[in-house]
Amino acid sequence: MKNHVLHGKKIILGVCGSIAAYKSAYLVRLLVKAGAEVQVVMTTSAIDFISPLTLATLSKKPVLHQYVKNSAGEWNNHVALGLWADLVLIAPATAHTIAKLANGLCDNLLSAVYLSARCPVFIAPAMDLDMYQHGSTRHNLQRLQSYGNTIIAAEWGELASGLEGQGRLAEPEEIAQRLEKHFQQEEEGQKGTFQGKKVLITAGPTYEDIDPVRFIGNHSTGKMGFALAEAAAEAGAEITLVCGPVHLQTQHPRIRRINVRTAEEMYEQCRLHFTSQDVAIFAAAVADYKPAQVSSQKIKKKETEMALPLTKTVDVALSLGKEKKAGQFTVGFALETEHEQQYALDKLRKKQLDMIVLNSLNDEGAGFGHDTNKIMLFGKDGSQQEFPLKSKQELAKDIIAQISLKINA
Ligand code: CTP
Repeated sequence: MKNHVLHGKKIILGVCGSIAAYKSAYLVRLLVKAGAEVQVVMTTSAIDFISPLTLATLSKKPVLHQYVKNSAGEWNNHVALGLWADLVLIAPATAHTIAKLANGLCDNLLSAVYLSARCPVFIAPAMDLDMYQHGSTRHNLQRLQSYGNTIIAAEWGELASGLEGQGRLAEPEEIAQRLEKHFQQEEEGQKGTFQGKKVLITAGPTYEDIDPVRFIGNHSTGKMGFALAEAAAEAGAEITLVCGPVHLQTQHPRIRRINVRTAEEMYEQCRLHFTSQDVAIFAAAVADYKPAQVSSQKIKKKETEMALPLTKTVDVALSLGKEKKAGQFTVGFALETEHEQQYALDKLRKKQLDMIVLNSLNDEGAGFGHDTNKIMLFGKDGSQQEFPLKSKQELAKDIIAQISLKINA
């Protein structure tokens, strides 16, 4: 299977002590059949559930589970293993291992490999339903996601306890497909689906001054916009990132950053660059209103309540939507608290967008300030896609991959 996307990929499969460990045997078989090189690393308790001999035979490699190889003091070099791998997959991941990884505890070979790995890490939990729903486990999984790891959610069904609910390890076929998709996206990025494309991205909040010491702002941190800029730059694009006041750094040499403060400034900068762009992504949380007048002196406290007259700010996405030329692709964001899909679709039409990314403030872990987000994508062509809670970096890659599919279609 030389042309399979998994061919030649180096995968470390971490197996933990769970009844679902039997599925690891199928998983190894699927990955090896697709041409991947699989190195199994087991925790000591996993050995009670499945024999290392089984996994060693199927993976055609000795299984590792200890730091030390033999009495001569040779060690299994976790750092070398972490560097060797193209991907680390931990399946099944128990509540205990998840808690350890989320907290950086490192008391066995698998946790040391996890901490040493520079490659993407996928974690597929398996446990009883109440353990899976427990606040501690949810918190630990969210934390792992916020570090850029991908969680392959447990499935619903009958559990080893006899109870029914969510907690079953995802099926090996499903896990293998997730890895295939990951490597496919990576290949697309390497091929540079965005190669040579010019992408304008707005990010962060805007601040609208009231007087010399006060302003109207919002909780946007700019994380999503910056993650999009990194993902698009990695895919080969030249980025113009117009951002409001944020505390973030830009790393990529292909990202040109323009700092602004107000909606008006953001619009001016975007308008200057828009005509030369192939894609524009409006990820900024632009203030909708600004004080009708900016006081040149600090406004003094009144004896009674005060009202502040506001006027509308310029809508960057709407204004540029009107100037859009054939071949330009624009993407907006909608952050909603009610009637989410309807409001998002209304914005898609009104602002003449080609795609809109909806995140709902009702979803735990989504929206302002979080390291994770949960989104739905709606296309002008009627397409619709839902993505699970992921790190903003992972979602940014997904969004860029979807845009690239549309613009290259
Ligand atoms: N947007 C913009 N300029 C504005 C307001 C919004 O460019 N002045 C963009 C945002 O970056 C986002 C999209 O428009 O991509 C939708 O923003 P949102 O604040 O959700 O929508 P609004 O049109 O402001 O509507 P409302 O606040 O009533 O939901």
